[in-house]
Amino acid sequence: MPEVLGAKDLVDAAVAQAMVRVLPRELAAGDPLVRRSDRADYQSNAALGLAKKAGIAPRELAQALLDSLTGDLAAELSGPGFLNITLTDAALWHIVAARLADEQRMGVGAPAHGTRTLVDYSGPNIAKQLHVGHIRSTVIGDALVRVLTYLGADVVKVNHLGDWGTAFGKPIQYIDEHTDLSLDSIDLDALDDVYKAAQQQFVADPEFAVRARARVVALQSGDEATLAAWHKLVEVSMDAFQALYQRLGILLTPEDAVAESFYNPWLGDVVSALDAKGLLTESEGAQCVFLDGFADSEGRPLPLIVRKSDGGYGYAATDLAAVRYRVEEVKAKRMLYVIDARQALHLRMVFETARQAGWLPDDVEAVHIPFGTILGTDGRPFRSRSGDTPRLKELLDAAIAGARAVVAEKSAELPPEEFENVVQAAGIGAVKYADLSNARIKDYVFDPDRMVSLTGNTSVYLQYAHARTCSVLRKADALLDTAADVDPAVPIHRAERSLILTLDEFGAVLAEVGTTLEPHRLCTYLYELAKAFSDFWQNCPVLKADGAAQRGNRVALVRLTQRTLAQGLDLLGISAPQRL
Ligand code: ARG
Repeated sequence: MPEVLGAKDLVDAAVAQAMVRVLPRELAAGDPLVRRSDRADYQSNAALGLAKKAGIAPRELAQALLDSLTGDLAAELSGPGFLNITLTDAALWHIVAARLADEQRMGVGAPAHGTRTLVDYSGPNIAKQLHVGHIRSTVIGDALVRVLTYLGADVVKVNHLGDWGTAFGKPIQYIDEHTDLSLDSIDLDALDDVYKAAQQQFVADPEFAVRARARVVALQSGDEATLAAWHKLVEVSMDAFQALYQRLGILLTPEDAVAESFYNPWLGDVVSALDAKGLLTESEGAQCVFLDGFADSEGRPLPLIVRKSDGGYGYAATDLAAVRYRVEEVKAKRMLYVIDARQALHLRMVFETARQAGWLPDDVEAVHIPFGTILGTDGRPFRSRSGDTPRLKELLDAAIAGARAVVAEKSAELPPEEFENVVQAAGIGAVKYADLSNARIKDYVFDPDRMVSLTGNTSVYLQYAHARTCSVLRKADALLDTAADVDPAVPIHRAERSLILTLDEFGAVLAEVGTTLEPHRLCTYLYELAKAFSDFWQNCPVLKADGAAQRGNRVALVRLTQRTLAQGLDLLGISAPQRL
């Protein structure tokens, strides 16, 4: 199905054509500057934008444009030189019909078509629970994967698991020394406790520290028993991560895991290649890259440490090897790193080093997609009751409890199984939506009561609006014998018009998310759409409309709203139950 020319596209094209008729060629190619407006459907600022360059008074230029404006529209001049433009009712109904005819995509285009885009997200560390940073990365990264895929990009998801490094000597040694613990029966919760206990003993007990360090050496030199234990750690952790992804509706699968250890074979080569290019400097026994423009607050140059003084390769070496692999083998043209804002410096240095080493060509885009912290209602970084950093499970439990209360109040009559599904969809959706709907880079407050509220910009409000569209459609299907066609001769009510114009923006908003990589724009849009629907719903009787033609058109609008809300929520990774 081809992309549908929407309302804004029609107005853009009409103004652009008028510009061609009125202005010299070099000016005519400019932006027609069309926006939604309260006065009309749209307003164009083109005359104001170009008057000076054209040497014509703005109002005069606006009048000339107005005189040569053609299409299914009415226009008038206003203020210092605005053009207020309103499409005919028939043109709007034709657009609704065309979008409905494209059941899969509603006429939305695929501007990212074919671009191989790698999204590095989630990236939890083995033997530990996901922390808040991983949760945000997982939720935001998954939404970006969904939107970019929908826009036609050739998306490669990557879970850069932290499965390598000196940290794993401690838990392996600790478990070895505690006969009550066995890697064959341990789960991630227990492993997380072990990790902390081993960390404490490492600090408090120098002899344990020596044994734990020896374990690291054993692991890195390939000692069989130690490697087997490490494999077990990886397996237990991966199983737990995967279960969590499934519960959360995250698209990541075991095949997407390309863990840090994957790059081990290339780390030596990364270092020698950097050396050969003259990029390496020894500093305090470590092999480092120093780059222009990277200094601490006192002006001292900052190192990117690729090989530590003990000979071990660090996080940076792995990330450099990963850049090479992703460019050369995966052939990514766009690489998106969805990682905590606190790693901004690390990534800037990795990208810059890779550019200088020739591993990151100019035609490959590498972008850090940072995000802020989750705060508690006290405005401080969110902590669980025990004072620890919270586990994802606790966040979910809190939201699901809130959702249960709301659904019980609204939809107590649902059959038990469906009730439970709706509670899960609402609770999990609320956690994701709270994360996605705030400007990504800002910290946000985790407030379980507010996030399941039925009013305001919440997923529950959107899910509720969606369920309402489904309920109308169920009744309409029962009432109408045939799916009525859209009749372009029916006059459009103000609330219908605003709903149609909002529906029409879906594709443009998705394209915007695809370039800005900011999912909150989609949330804001869906909220506007749900509000426009609610206004329509209050003002325009659907099943009791004036006659079959009006009823048919209104049912069509409800259907298009239902599909757009469901698709939009799905692109955020949130499910849209039929009833709520
Ligand atoms: N495991 C890392 C952490 O917990 C996140 C990995 C992010 N991806 C990357 N390519 N560095 O901080």
